Amino acid sequence: MLTNLTPQPADKILALMQMFREDPRKAKIDLGVGVYRNAEGVTPVMRAVKTAERTLVETQGTKAYTGLAGDPAFAKSMMGLILGDAVDADRTAAIATPGGTGAIRQGLELMRYADKGATIWLSTPTWPNHPSIVKYLGVPMKPYRYFDNATRSVDFAGMLADLAEAKAGDLILLHGCCHNPTGANLTPDQWGQVADLLEKTGAIPFVDIAYQGFGDGLEEDAFGPRLLAKRMPEMIVAASCSKNFGVYRERTGLLMALAPNAEAKAQTQATLNFLNRQNYSFPPDHGARVVQMILDDPAMRADWQSELEDVRLGMLALREQLAGELRQRTNSDQFDFIAHHRGMFSRLGISEDKVTQLREEHGIYMIGDSRMNIAGLNKETVPLLAEAIVAVGV
Ligand code: LMR
Repeated sequence: MLTNLTPQPADKILALMQMFREDPRKAKIDLGVGVYRNAEGVTPVMRAVKTAERTLVETQGTKAYTGLAGDPAFAKSMMGLILGDAVDADRTAAIATPGGTGAIRQGLELMRYADKGATIWLSTPTWPNHPSIVKYLGVPMKPYRYFDNATRSVDFAGMLADLAEAKAGDLILLHGCCHNPTGANLTPDQWGQVADLLEKTGAIPFVDIAYQGFGDGLEEDAFGPRLLAKRMPEMIVAASCSKNFGVYRERTGLLMALAPNAEAKAQTQATLNFLNRQNYSFPPDHGARVVQMILDDPAMRADWQSELEDVRLGMLALREQLAGELRQRTNSDQFDFIAHHRGMFSRLGISEDKVTQLREEHGIYMIGDSRMNIAGLNKETVPLLAEAIVAVGV
């Protein structure tokens, strides 16, 4: 049996992570995988996470199973964080999942269960694991235009034109904020226009939100999902706590499904519980409990928010610095988009050959489509990157 196995397509983000690890050069810069790193290159455990974990060690009396949906208190706090007062608890089913990827997977399984014929529309480009999971599950998919490589901004006219073709009941995968891999995001007005279009076509938003707090702020980054939650009869939201709580390896995520009424919500909840049971039974609890403790305790929450804000502002400063260095070196504003993008990533918009050259000649690792993780930089490495970009001649 096992001799029948053939290689699966490599995940380009994880392959690059491995390549970086194996590179013996000392002076190398990792702008690959989307993991936050501080100026010392460390991915720290956030202060509030440490506080909550200490409390948990002291107070947790059992590690017996939670419910199939995970701890309802986690779902409630996360719904508040993401959807604010737009959340209608009577209509929202939710399950804890192993990370944001687990939430995406369960959301797609839910979709497949509810309507086998529905197509999911993915932005071009999108996080490579999106089409990979969609394909794995055999869900029909279509692309929609999103990024204009010439201006390095959202091709909004193209996006609207493509999404106008979606049928009622199709799902539209939207990045809630901080688009991965481009860093180019919808404005509040554009979110409104997307909502208008969805109302017209009857297509359903499937929001992936993995970077809340990394863009313009916790509230600002939730603008799109909240607007949709207020207006749409149905919506799926896959959320990750990996980045904004820094709990990557704890696998902490939430899948929410907004149903049109309480009856549909009950059936949706039962189906989600069933899907958890089939895939891994009870979802992981440690990270979820830590997140819930932080969100529900005013002091821990304030500490978390303040540290998250420092992370966000640090990335913005690096963006400004890099755009400035490139402005100076190229005597042009062609790289100013780096300062306008938001979140952890920007797509530089250079060819794959130039990306290879940056890696081989300068030890700078970015994804082949020229996505760079801004948090992989620090004040000292920004000029090195700018110098290398100019040297490879983009
Ligand atoms: C990324 O896009 O780099 C992150 O979301 C990490 C991952 O799992 O790919």
